[in-house]
Amino acid sequence: MNEHVKSVQRAIVGKGIAHDSAIKHVAGEAVYIDDMPDLPGTLHAALILSPVAAGTLSGIDTARAAATDGVVAIVTAADIPGHNDIAPILSGEPLFAERDLDYLGMPVGAVAATSYEQAVRAAHAIDFDIAENEPVLDVEEAHRRGDYVLDPQELISGDVDAALQEADLILEGRLQIGGQDHFYLETQIAYAVPGEDGDMTVHSSTQHPTEVQHHVAHVLGGYANAVDVQVRRMGGGFGGKESQATIIACAAALLARKTGRPVKLRLKRSADMAATGKRHDMVSRWRVGVTKNGRIVGADVEYLARAGNTADLTGPVITRAITHTDNAYHIPAARFVGHACKTNTVSNTAFRGFGGPQGVVTSEAMIDQIARELQLDPNHVRALNYYGPDTGETTPYDQPVEHNRLVEVTEAILHSAQWQQRRAEIDEHNKAGPVIRRGLAMMPVKFGISFNLPSLNQAGALVHVYQDGSVHLNHGGTEMGQGLFVKVAQVVAEVFQLDIDRIKITATHTGKVPNTSPTAASTGSDLNGMAAFKAATAIRDRMTPIAAQHFEVPPEDIVFRENRVHAGNRSIAFAELAKMSWAARVSLSEAGHYATPKIHWDGKSMKGRPFFYFTYGAAVAEVAIDTLTGENRCLRADILQDCGASLNPAVDLGQIEGAFVQGMGWLTCEELWWDKSGRLRTVGPSTYKIPGSRDVPPAFNVSILDGAPNAEETVFRSKAVGEPPLMLAVSVWLALRDAVASCGKPGLSPNLRTPATPEAVLDAVDDIRARSA
Ligand code: MTE
Ligand code: HPA
Ligand code: MOS
Repeated sequence: MNEHVKSVQRAIVGKGIAHDSAIKHVAGEAVYIDDMPDLPGTLHAALILSPVAAGTLSGIDTARAAATDGVVAIVTAADIPGHNDIAPILSGEPLFAERDLDYLGMPVGAVAATSYEQAVRAAHAIDFDIAENEPVLDVEEAHRRGDYVLDPQELISGDVDAALQEADLILEGRLQIGGQDHFYLETQIAYAVPGEDGDMTVHSSTQHPTEVQHHVAHVLGGYANAVDVQVRRMGGGFGGKESQATIIACAAALLARKTGRPVKLRLKRSADMAATGKRHDMVSRWRVGVTKNGRIVGADVEYLARAGNTADLTGPVITRAITHTDNAYHIPAARFVGHACKTNTVSNTAFRGFGGPQGVVTSEAMIDQIARELQLDPNHVRALNYYGPDTGETTPYDQPVEHNRLVEVTEAILHSAQWQQRRAEIDEHNKAGPVIRRGLAMMPVKFGISFNLPSLNQAGALVHVYQDGSVHLNHGGTEMGQGLFVKVAQVVAEVFQLDIDRIKITATHTGKVPNTSPTAASTGSDLNGMAAFKAATAIRDRMTPIAAQHFEVPPEDIVFRENRVHAGNRSIAFAELAKMSWAARVSLSEAGHYATPKIHWDGKSMKGRPFFYFTYGAAVAEVAIDTLTGENRCLRADILQDCGASLNPAVDLGQIEGAFVQGMGWLTCEELWWDKSGRLRTVGPSTYKIPGSRDVPPAFNVSILDGAPNAEETVFRSKAVGEPPLMLAVSVWLALRDAVASCGKPGLSPNLRTPATPEAVLDAVDDIRARSA
C-alpha cells in the first residue's frame, strides 16, 4: 500500500488539471437532467404541498385538479403500492403525508400532466379537508414543551461541574445560529423511466444513488435489483441532495409506475425551498470556566437544533456539532448536549459542514468572549488553548489529536496577512470613532474527516481496460461540481501512467457499483479514489507479468510510463500490452473496494475515534461596518488550508474559495424567515440573498499548505477539502464582532446573532452602546 507513495514519479496526480466538464459548464453544454431530451410519452410532474404548517388531514379531493387540462395522473399516500417511508436512518418518515400535516410545504401527493405548467396548475387545484392546529415554530418553545424527534445526545468528559467550580471565572453566553438554504443552481429533479417486468430507471440529481434505489424499490414494493439509478452530474448538492433527493425520485417513480410513462419531476425554486430541508438553525448556550489568564478549564454547552418535522439526518448532524465544539481547543472537562427539537417546519438535513459549522461558531464565540471579557488578545487566548502539538491530548470524545498543524497554519497566516501591521492600522482607524468601523480576526479550523457513522466509510469502483488501451472508470461517488470525477480519474491515470484523456469518466450507476455511501462528509476522493486505486493497481499487477514475459525480464523491471510499458530501453505501447494481456486470457477488469481503517465510534457514550484524520486551516478576515445602517462587507480574506498532498490543487483552490464564500453567505446575508403561520417567506433570490460575485472579498488570498502530505495512508497522501474551509468564514463573523466591539467599552463582548445581516449588526451596535452608557 505504501508503494504508490514512495516509488512512482507522479505525473498526473498533484497537477492542477481542469475539471472534466469545465468547458461544458461555461459553454452551457453540460447535460443536466432537465436538459436530457424527453423520451416519447414523457409526462411532467409537480408536487402537491400542504397549505398549512400543522393540521390533521381528513380528506383530499382531487376532482377539480383531475379535470384541469392535460392531467394524466394524481397520486397520494393511498396510491403507494409499497411502503410510505423514506427515512434515511430511522423509520416513519413518510414520502406523502397521510393524516398529519407537519409543515407548510410538506408533500401530500404529486400530479403528472402533459406539460410542466399544467402539472403545476393542477397541483394548486387540490381541495383539502384539514383541521388546523397551532404550529410550533420556535426551537426554544419546542424545547420547553419537550417536543423532540430524537433522544438528546450527551458527551461527557471529565467532571465539568467540579471544573467550573474551581474556575477563576465562569462566562455565560447564548448564540442564535441561522440556517441556510442550499440554493444549488439545479433544483431537485428526477426523471423516472419505466421498463419491462416492473423495472424502473431513475435519473436522479442525488448525492446518494443507492439510497434513491433502495427507497424507490421500497415505495414501489419491489426489490432493489429492479431499480437502476444513474447520476451523471448535479448542478450542486451541498448536502441538500444527500437524503432528500429521494422524495423527488420516489414521487416521479410512483407516477411512472402508475402511468407506465416516463415522468420528469423538477421543483420550481419556490417549491424546492418550501418542501426540502436546509442547514439546521440552532441556539447554543454555554457556561465556560476559565483561569484568569484565559485558559479553559471546563465547558458546559447545549444546542437546540431545529430538526423540523422528522429526524432525517439530524442525529449525525448534532453529533458533528458536538464533536466540533472543541474546534482547535483542548477542553479538559466538558458536557456537550444536543437536542433535536421538533417544529412544524421542513425537516432539516445535511449542509456542507454537517453540524460542524454550528459547533465551530459556538467554539469561536466562547473564545472571543473569553478574550474580550478578560481583555486579552484573542489570538493569544486561542494559542493558549490549542491542542498541543503531539502532546497526546485527546478530544472530549477521546480521539488523540495527532499530526496537529494548528500552530503551523496560524503562524503562517498571521505572517502572510501582515496581522500586526494591520491590527495597528485598524485600531488607529477606529480610535477616532468613525461611522465606518473596521474589524479584524483570525481563526483556525480543525475538522474531522470520516462519516461519523462508521458503516458509511466504504466505497467501490469498477475499472475496465479495453484492448485499445483505453480505460473505463466508474465508482460510487457522484459529481456535484466539486471535481471528484477528475480527481479519481487522475488516480487511475497515475496508476497506469496514462494521459488523463485515456480515462473515460462515466455516470454513477447503481448497476455498476452497488451499495454505495452518499458522496458526503468530504470523503468522496478519499473513499472512491482509494477504491479506484485498488482496482487499477490490481489490473496493472496482472498486466505486469505479461509484459515481463514479452521482454523476458523479471516483473520488477517493468515500468509503466507515459502511455508505454518499459523494460530498460525497450518499450511497447500500453495498448499493445492490453491486447497481449487479453490474448493471454488475463482479466482486464476489476472491482475495487475500500473501507477506511482505524475508525470506531460508540454512539451511546459518544466516545471513540470517529475520524480517520483531522484537517487544519486558518483564515484572517477584515471587514467594515456602517454603524448607522449596519451594512457590512468583507474587505480582505487570507486563507491557508491543509489539503495533504493535494490530488489537484486547481480543484482544491476552487473548493476553498467556494466554501469560504458559501460560509460568508450563511453568516452574513442568507436569512430564512418564516411568518407566524409557518410559511417560509424567503423562497427565492429576491428575498433570500446569497452572496454574489461582488460579495467575494476584493482582496482574497487563498493558498494550500505546502509540503504537508497526510500522515495517514490516504490516496496519494491527500486530504479531504469539500467542507472544512466553509468554517473559515467564521473569521468574517469574528471580524464583524471586532468592529462592533470597537463601539463599546473594553471588556464587553458583542451580541451578534447570525446571519449578521445589516439589521443584526445594527442591533449589536445599539446593544453594546447601551451597555457602555
Ligand atoms: N462543491 C460544489 N461545486 N458543489 C457542491 O454541491 N458540495 C460540498 C463540497 N463541495 C459541493 C461542493 C459538500 S457538502 C461535500 S460533502 C463535498 O463537496 C462532497 O464532495 P467530496 O466528498 O468529493 O469532496
Ligand atoms: N457527514 C455527512 N453525512 C453523514 C455524516 C457526516 O458526517 N454522518 C452520517 N451521514
Ligand atoms: Mo456534504 S453536507 O456532507 O453533503
